[in-house]
Amino acid sequence: MHTVTRTEPPDTAAAPAGIVPLELTINGARHALRLEPWTSLLDLLREHLQLTGTKKGCDHGQCGACTVLVNGTRINACLALAVALDGAEITTVEGLARDGELHPMQQAFVDHDALQCGYCTPGQICSALGLLDEGHAHCRDDVREQMSGNLCRCGAYVNIANAVDAVRREQACSQPDSAANGQPTNAAREHAR
Ligand code: FES
Ligand code: FES
Repeated sequence: MHTVTRTEPPDTAAAPAGIVPLELTINGARHALRLEPWTSLLDLLREHLQLTGTKKGCDHGQCGACTVLVNGTRINACLALAVALDGAEITTVEGLARDGELHPMQQAFVDHDALQCGYCTPGQICSALGLLDEGHAHCRDDVREQMSGNLCRCGAYVNIANAVDAVRREQACSQPDSAANGQPTNAAREHAR
C-alpha cells in the first residue's frame, strides 16, 4: 500500500505494477497518490490520509455515514473507487470550518441539537450541503425526503431536518432570485472552498 503527498505531478513511469497514480484535491490540498485500484475513497480518506471525520457505517452504500462532496456533489465514499476520481476536488467535514469558525451548517447542527452520538453527523452535514447546492429542496418536507439516504441510529431526525431547513431558509432569504427560480445557490460550496 503506497500513499504519497506532494505538490508535483506523479511520476507515472515509476509506478510499480498494479499501483495506480492519481491526483486529488482534498479540502483544498493537492495530493499525488499511488493506490491499489480497489481502494475506496472512504478507505483512502480514513486509512491513508487519516481524515477520520468521514465515518464508515455499513461500507455498502446503505447508511450515508461516509457522505462527502466530490466536485460539489454528495456521494457515498464507500462506493467510489478512488482511482476513478483522478483530478477531482473532494470536500470532507474537516474542510468546512474556516479560521476557527464553524461552517453555518455545522453551527446549525449545534444550535438545533441535531446530534446525539455524532457518528452520522459528518455524513449528514456533507449530504445537507450537497442537497442545498442541488437546489431541489424548497421546504422542510423536501429536506426530509432528500436526506432520507442518511440514517441516524440515534433517531435525531427531527432536529437534523430543523437544522438543515434553517440553513435552507437562510440561503433562500439571502439569495431570493436564485431560490425563487429553484436554482442552486452554490453558497455552501463557496464557503467550503
Ligand atoms: S458507510 Fe458508506 S453508505 Fe454506509
Ligand atoms: S447522532 Fe448517533 S447515529 Fe446519528
